[in-house]
Formats: sequence, structure tokens, C-alpha cells
Amino acid sequence: MKTWLRDLPKVELHLHIEGSLEPELMFALAERNGVALPYATVEEARAAYDFADLQSFLNLYYQGMGVLHTEQDFFDLAMDYFARAAAEGVVHVELSFDPQAHMSRGVALSVPFAGLERAMREAESRWGLSTALIMSFLRDRSADEAMDVLEQAAPYYAQIDAVGLDSAELGNPPSKFAAVFERAKALGLPRVAHAGEEGPAAYIDEALDVLDVCRIDHGVACLQDEALIARLRASQMPLTVCPLSNVRLKVTKTMSEHPLPAMLDQGLKVTLNSDDPAYFGGGMLNNFTACLEAFDWDRERFKTLAANAIDVAFMPETRRDALRQRLASC
Ligand code: HPA
Ligand code: ZN
Repeated sequence: MKTWLRDLPKVELHLHIEGSLEPELMFALAERNGVALPYATVEEARAAYDFADLQSFLNLYYQGMGVLHTEQDFFDLAMDYFARAAAEGVVHVELSFDPQAHMSRGVALSVPFAGLERAMREAESRWGLSTALIMSFLRDRSADEAMDVLEQAAPYYAQIDAVGLDSAELGNPPSKFAAVFERAKALGLPRVAHAGEEGPAAYIDEALDVLDVCRIDHGVACLQDEALIARLRASQMPLTVCPLSNVRLKVTKTMSEHPLPAMLDQGLKVTLNSDDPAYFGGGMLNNFTACLEAFDWDRERFKTLAANAIDVAFMPETRRDALRQRLASC
């Protein structure tokens, strides 16, 4: 079954590329760029990845990405991840990145765009991996700053498949970014947002009502609200769930207590994703196998989850058809 899960064509819709930075590459880039790290060894870095909540993770996540300076760094970061993803049977990746977390360190917006774009093209030719790019705004920074980034990104709009919203959720409701998302909509950019990870179910409603998103990232808090469950079921709104992330950030206590089975029982359009694989215990395959171990799902259930992701991915219809055919033969 584990071999079968590896070979299942998996689509990753919720992946922060900066969260795919493994300690080995972090050390290599720190050396290359003369950046001091707070860890003596790779093992010490991994041992520090013991999180109490989302904020305690974000602190190390922003610190870790401080080694990324050049276009080549972003290229190496993405290629390192794409190689692992391809080996795990991932066939399509929608990578999110946080431009503000780089611009605030003096890295020009053009740098991540150039490095990621080159890696995305290389991944396509090397592994046949299709990709999409999501430019995310940091919700714990001001809406004015996000708007400014959106305007500065004008030369790259053709490269952006969607805009997103991430970082510290509590106290930073979706409505804070109403004007930014309205502008993105006017520009014709699809919108997604993290909601209902640490924040309440009401943030999910708000992301739908105010930001007009086409996907909710996480969304596990929806089970707190019957009316919201009915709404998400009726609209088949995609929820990009990240089980290992939820356990590591103590959104849920254990895998066996994870709300995924309940969400599926409610008829919700759920997908399985890895979020920040370098920090949360692995990529897509580890998330799939963790579900196998916790829930003993059969092949049909995993095929449904994989099909859900194919249904709602940002990809050309020809690619969607090809992936559906591959899945059907599993
Ligand atoms: N939640 C919110 N913001 C993030 C995350 C996450 O899990 N990972 C990177 N930015
Ligand atoms: Zn996330």
C-alpha cells in the first residue's frame, strides 16, 4: 500500500516553498552567503523544530529563510524541493511564496520571481512536473504594505496564478485585506487564503464573503459551525488540509484525533497537502502515509483525495484530463 501511495499521482496545492528549506540546504546557503545561523549542526536545527503553536513555528520559519539572498538561492531551494516531490510521486505543485518576508530583508521582489520561475521551468523539463505560483501576503503586516507589494508585482502578473494570505492568523482577520483582494480580483488574479487553521470558523466565512476566494487553506475549524459546514459542502469549496502541519503546530493533538475523517464524512471537498515539509515531518508522501497509519483508509479514499486536488488545481484542462486518466489507472 505504501508503494501504491508513492505511485499515486499526487497534486500539492498548499506548499510554502520557504518551508521546504531543509537544514542541509540552509547550512549550505548560510555558508555561501556568509549568514550566521543559531544552530551548530543540522541535527541541532531539526531538534529545534518543536513547536507550541503557529507563532513559534513562524519565528523559526522567518529566521531560516534569512539565508535566501540571490536568484540562484531561490532556484536551489525550489529545485531541492521539486526533486524530493518528484521522487514521492508528486505530479503538480502549487508553490506559495512570501515576498514581504524577503523584501523586508532587502531582497528585491524580482529575485524570488526570477529564481522560482527558472526552477519551475526546469522541473517541468526534468521531471514533467507541472507547477503554479501563488504570491502570498503576510496577514500580520499592514494591508497598505500588501497593496504596495501587489502593485510592485505588476511586471510579474503573468507569472502569478493566484494570490494568497498566510502568517499569524489570530487577530488578523481576512477583512483586514478586503481592499487588497478586491484589487487582485480587478486584476483578474484568483484568490486563496489561509483561514480556520488557528483562527475561528468565522474567518472562513469572512474569507469567502469578503475576499471572494476560490480555495481555503487549512479550514479545519469549519467543524465548529454547522451552517458553515453546509455552506462548504453545498459549494464544494476546496479545503487544502495539512495533517502533519496541524499536529506539529498543535492545532490537533494527534493524527488519530485529526478532523480529516469527520470532514470527509461531511462531504467536504478536502485535499491533502504538506504546508512546510522541512519543518513538519515530511512532504506529500509522509502526509498520505500518516493518514494511512492513523485512519486505515482504502485505496478509493486516497484516490478521491487525489482527484479532489486535480479538480481544483490551477492547471490547463489538457493537463487536468491527463492527470485524471493517470489516476484512473491506479
Ligand atoms: N500557517 C500560516 N502561515 C504560514 C504557514 C502556516 O502553516 N506556513 C508558512 N506560513
Ligand atoms: Zn500554509
